Amino acid sequence: MRRKLAAGNWKMNGTTDALQEIAALGRAHPEAAAEVLICPPATLIAPAARTAGDGPIGIGGQDCHDEAEGAHTGDISAGMLADAGARAVILGHSERRAAHHERSEDVRAKARAAQAAGLMTIICLGESQLQREATNTLDIIGAQLSLSVPDGSTGENLVVAYEPIWAIGSGMTPTPDQIGEVHDFMRARLERRFGAGVGRSVRLLYGGSVKGENAGEIFAISNVDGALVGGASLTAGAFSPIISAL
Ligand code: G3P
Repeated sequence: MRRKLAAGNWKMNGTTDALQEIAALGRAHPEAAAEVLICPPATLIAPAARTAGDGPIGIGGQDCHDEAEGAHTGDISAGMLADAGARAVILGHSERRAAHHERSEDVRAKARAAQAAGLMTIICLGESQLQREATNTLDIIGAQLSLSVPDGSTGENLVVAYEPIWAIGSGMTPTPDQIGEVHDFMRARLERRFGAGVGRSVRLLYGGSVKGENAGEIFAISNVDGALVGGASLTAGAFSPIISAL
């Protein structure tokens, strides 16, 4: 039985004022059956972890380097994220693949480092509008999945998020059939690679314009174990109905 997960990706949003949203979310879901994560900008990880305390909200990062330390100005290692109080890290988001030229091989190296540091990795995959129109979606997802996920991943340290690039921040979402097709495909690929035990225990999230209004329909789709949420995770008021829909 996979535990449902709602992860909020704050992207480059939030200063110390936003910590009150984490406190409010914790108060709203004191005994959430689902796992709830907030991934704030790096500057807020330590204070967010202090705000979250031992409560129901976990804290995660949005990226890490693939080395433990060294001459990498501006970068943060997985061990540093863990030291600051993170328990998870988002890797390979399409915004990083595009703006920072991250390839799936780079994502895999980062994921290996993050898993070695004890972090749960949320690895993002997704096709562009052009790729979907060219009916290449499953080829793209299959390649990203096999190249981005490290060997030795488990149901504890791996979560995969399907985020169609064209659905991010656009208000557009794929149809339930389109989401189900990709999630069933990812599940089959994971089972083939890691065996049924591990393959069935990895949680698969959908991301892209998830809101309180569409969360219930999305969570009812086969092999959708939760959501990776951008805009609607920025306030407790918007994120709370998504958590409640899990
Ligand atoms: O990582 C979450 C994200 O890319 C989806 O963003 O704003 O469409 O929920 P949004």
